[in-house]
Amino acid sequence: MQIINTENYAEMSKEAARLVAATLRLEPEAVLGLATGSTPQGLYAELVRMYREEGLDFSEATTFNLDEYVGIGPEHEQSYRYYMDTNLFNHINIDKDNTFVPLGLTEDIEGECEIYDELMDMVGGTDIQILGIGENGHIGFNEPGSVFVASTHVTDLTESTIEANSRLFAKKEDVPRRAITMGMRGIMSANMIIILASGEKKAQAVRDMVLGPVTPECPASLLQLHPQVLLIADDEALSGIEF
Ligand code: F6R
Repeated sequence: MQIINTENYAEMSKEAARLVAATLRLEPEAVLGLATGSTPQGLYAELVRMYREEGLDFSEATTFNLDEYVGIGPEHEQSYRYYMDTNLFNHINIDKDNTFVPLGLTEDIEGECEIYDELMDMVGGTDIQILGIGENGHIGFNEPGSVFVASTHVTDLTESTIEANSRLFAKKEDVPRRAITMGMRGIMSANMIIILASGEKKAQAVRDMVLGPVTPECPASLLQLHPQVLLIADDEALSGIEF
């Protein structure tokens, strides 16, 4: 795993945007794996700026998001589809038909998981996968547990994740308890993975991911086995690691 230590959140975001832009310029038809949450918001803002000011072209790109809450629809303000539309897709020239976010509101949730993996297989996986990291070491919503789950699946969110994400909901009880998430196979099949981390709250998870054993108790630790992972993190997130 390579590490880029940035001074702060803004630098982390710009560094990540530079790499996504380079991928798109080299390969306009690139397949991008995308994350939501607070961490990539600066990256998306920078990509929107690059589209407006530098003509970065998304017209031929395809995207696959990592996850979605179960039980809320795309028009719900806390859904990840809504997040992607408002933070990125509505502001760039991407064809929305080529943007995939799992459907959280469907009668056939198991079928949705299968279709999602099939769609990803059809495009040959992602060229570049953006990840954030949970305070408990989760990636996507692959929560700590006793096994790594390979395929897209429905998962129960842990108390730590519900607590962390409750900041975005009116009250903790409103946070969905389940989510659909890309599994480890989908994430690990990316040609390149960029994992972003900012702030002291992530320091322990970052340390476990980089220096700890590869274990499903810290799902992000599996990234140690991927040949092309770049961790872009600020000083605070790296404060648990000595260089
Ligand atoms: C979101 C996702 C999650 C987040 C993680 C960190 O699509 O997959 O794994 O990346 O929970 O969230 P933030 O960035 O809000 O700290």
